[in-house]
Amino acid sequence: MIDREWGDIFSGFAGEQGDLIPILQRVQEKAGYITKGAIEAISQFLKISENQIFGVASFYSQFRFTEPGRNSIKVCMGTACHVRGGQILGDVLERELAISAGQTTEDKRFDLQRVACLGCCALAPVIQINDDIYSRMTVIRLKEVLEKYE
Ligand code: FES
Repeated sequence: MIDREWGDIFSGFAGEQGDLIPILQRVQEKAGYITKGAIEAISQFLKISENQIFGVASFYSQFRFTEPGRNSIKVCMGTACHVRGGQILGDVLERELAISAGQTTEDKRFDLQRVACLGCCALAPVIQINDDIYSRMTVIRLKEVLEKYE
């Protein structure tokens, strides 16, 4: 049985398998991530298994499966950033925050993602926190930057 909340999500869709991606996009827009409940409801609506939905959704980096934090950190893993230490920044952030990329800290203060080029390679290595870009980032500056975010 699909309740009203999901009725809104599914409105305008015929229940065909091709609806999967746009429905997932709508869920993520509304909830901020793909919840377990969403996968169950989509499975009923489209009559495909939860595993299939998870398989498709996890193929696309735009979909997340954990609740976002109050602040979202993106560490650039593009070539320019990678050769200038992006990988090390990502590793240090994972250690500092005690999470892996794709996860959210227990206090919901930060979530962390490793992403492809952020489009400002001349400033490598780059991290982005919410809408703020931090260029020529160093491990030493990381801690001080994180402190700006509650
Ligand atoms: S490679 Fe990092 S901004 Fe382009």
